[in-house]
Parts: sequence; C-alpha cells; structure tokens
Amino acid sequence: MKISVPSVLLAATAFILAAPALPPAAHALDNGVARTPPMGWNSWNKFACKGLNEQVVRATADTIASNGMKDAGYVFVNLDDCWQSGRDAEGNIVVDHEKFPSGIKALADYVHSKGLKFGVYTDVGTKTCAGRPGSIGHEYQDARQYAAWGVDYVKEDWCNTLPDQSGLSSYTLMRDALAATGRPIVFSICEWGTNKPWLWAGPVGNLWRTTDDIKDCWDCEHRPHSGNGVVQIIDLMAAPGVESYAGPGHWNDPDMLEVGNGGMTTEEDRAHFSMWAMFAAPLLVGTDVANMSADTKSILLNHAVIAVDQDPLGHAATRVKKDGDIEVWSRPLANGNRAVALLNRSSKPISIGVAWTDIGYPASLRATVRDLWSDKETRDQTDHYAAEVPSHGVVMVTIAPH
Ligand code: GLA
Repeated sequence: MKISVPSVLLAATAFILAAPALPPAAHALDNGVARTPPMGWNSWNKFACKGLNEQVVRATADTIASNGMKDAGYVFVNLDDCWQSGRDAEGNIVVDHEKFPSGIKALADYVHSKGLKFGVYTDVGTKTCAGRPGSIGHEYQDARQYAAWGVDYVKEDWCNTLPDQSGLSSYTLMRDALAATGRPIVFSICEWGTNKPWLWAGPVGNLWRTTDDIKDCWDCEHRPHSGNGVVQIIDLMAAPGVESYAGPGHWNDPDMLEVGNGGMTTEEDRAHFSMWAMFAAPLLVGTDVANMSADTKSILLNHAVIAVDQDPLGHAATRVKKDGDIEVWSRPLANGNRAVALLNRSSKPISIGVAWTDIGYPASLRATVRDLWSDKETRDQTDHYAAEVPSHGVVMVTIAPH
C-alpha cells in the first residue's frame, strides 16, 4: 500500500532515515525507572479499540487500588491504541472526546489520586496500528504534552513507518524527547522483535517487545503478523542469548498478559503467568480486572511468583533442558537461590525433574524446595527435584541451599 506523507513530515524525519547507526547496546538506558519489570494494566488485550473509554479506565484504577493488585506491585494503568483522534492546527495531539469526554489530564489525575501511575500509547510512524495519529515529526511536541498531562509510561508502536525507517533512530528520537521533558517516564519500544531490538534497544528503551502480538491461546500456529500463542512465544524467548539482554532498567517484553481473557484454561493461564515471571517480563495485565474470576485473581496475585519476576538481580531465565514437550527453565535470584519452572507442553501429565547440576549447583548441595503454586516445602533435597506436572502446566519452585 502506498502511504502518502506530507513534505513537512518528510523533512522533519530526514534525521530518522539518515542518522548513522549508534554503537551496539553497550549500556542500558539510564533514566532511573523500571529497575524491576514494569507491572500494571494495559487496555489492549481485552478492550482493544472499540471497548476503550474513560469509564473502563476509571473502573480499572478503582479496582487495582482496592483489590490487592496495587499492593502486589501493579501500579501502571496504561491506555493503548485509540485514545487519540487527530491533530489541531498547531499539530497538538487531539483526544478522542467520544471515548474520553473529560480529557486525558483529568484521567491521569484520577489515576494518580489512587496512588497509581498513568501511561499512553503512540507510534513511530504516520499512524498507529488502528489508524490514529502517529508521532512522526511530532516527537518533542508529543513528549511535552505527555509530561504536561503527568504521563509516567509511553509505549511506542511500529506501524505505518516510512520505507526504510530506522527503528534505532526513531526510538532514539523519542527517548531524547521524553528525556528533555525532565519527567521520569518508562519508555516501551513496541517493535515486535522485527529487527532483534534486544541487540540495540538497551540504551534506548526500558523494555522492548521481543515478539509479534500475543494471542489468547496456548498453542496456535504462528503466521507472520497474525500473532503468537503462549507456546510460540516461549520458543521465541528460548533463542540463544536473548535472556542475557534483560536487566534492571532494560527488559525483554514478550507482550502483555492474556490471563483471564478466556482463551486458555486456568492451568494454561497459570503456566503463562509463571513463564512470564521466569522471563523477568513486564507483568501488564490485559483483562477486565473489575469483573475477573476468583481463579484469575489468584493467579495475578501469587506473591511468590511475582517476587521471582521482580527479583532485584533482574537475571532472566534460560531454558536448561528441552526434551520434546518437557522443558526446564532456571533463573538465579539475588539471594543465591534459583527459580525453576518445570514446563509440560504435552496433553498428558508428566513427571519432570531438574538436576542440581543443570542449574549450576553441585549434586551434593542440600536445599529446600518451595512449590510456588501449592506453597508446599520439601526440605533436605539433594541432587535433583522431580514433580508431576499437569498437561499444559508448570510446577514452579524456588530452590534454596541451606
Ligand atoms: C500492535 C501492538 C499491540 C497493540 C496494537 C494496537 O499490534 O503490537 O500491542 O498496541 O498494535 O493497535
């Protein structure tokens, strides 16, 4: 499809196309935020474009502030696509007043009044993926507006880019525009993993999507630009070395959570949530929290699993074993313990074991193993730990030497 771009935009964006490549990710973005993976809520997975409006966002903020989610660390309330409708004569972004009659400042103030933080969404191209205005040529103007509204988090998408537009240069421009506001703002790069952002986005953003959009299904065939099931994302996250790019202030983002949206069983939702914690992924809830089931709430509020995700070491898990449908993932924790996920992708329950030597411990080491879903503890375990893992499920444990 041919995209027509006004010449003023072309001039304004010449920098984006011509800028020389920056050196590879030798360091991380030093803007002081997202020292642990961001936690909160985003509108897209449940409400998309059609269902988004200020009542939904206010009800979500009310719920998160009062149902234990805020105390568990879910602090961001983030608008995704479709909050914006155009630009005025001066190029200022104009809010969709049908969806947000009170405007964005009032909504941000409301979210802040609940002790929460507020996020918005934009796009590096001419239009967002849903056809709303993108930020190209307006980066500094938009960043100033976001800061004036009190925005704490900006996600920038990768739709409707110019031919040959550089992700590195485009996202660097927005990074600098946000920094120039002087407001601490989490910067989320949503480039879908297209150009291996983990290799270059460390100094540019606080998190970067590693994959195409998540779909609310356990195992669904991947076709380019049609999304991934949880199993497909797990495989993409197993690519050698990807985990090594995550750390405090700069995270791999395998996309937002589908827990509670109905496409997966409770067991699958639990496995999805556990694996995202193993990845040190952002935990952005994508369901209708005001109306979620008790099962969904108990998954999202598993403090022990959240603690693994938020471990201050920020070391993401490596797949240490793969044998057909059986996988073992392990990550070291700040206190020297390990978090381990025994993952069963098959349609039958299977006993899965992890050997101490697979996770960097000597076989003779004595440890206490805590199952983070059943909350059961096994003391004086040596050599290995094995457990029966349900179909499409995980057993997630911490292993504490003593
Ligand atoms: C892209 C992004 C999604 C979401 C939609 C909104 O597909 O990857 O996360 O933001 O756009 O249109």
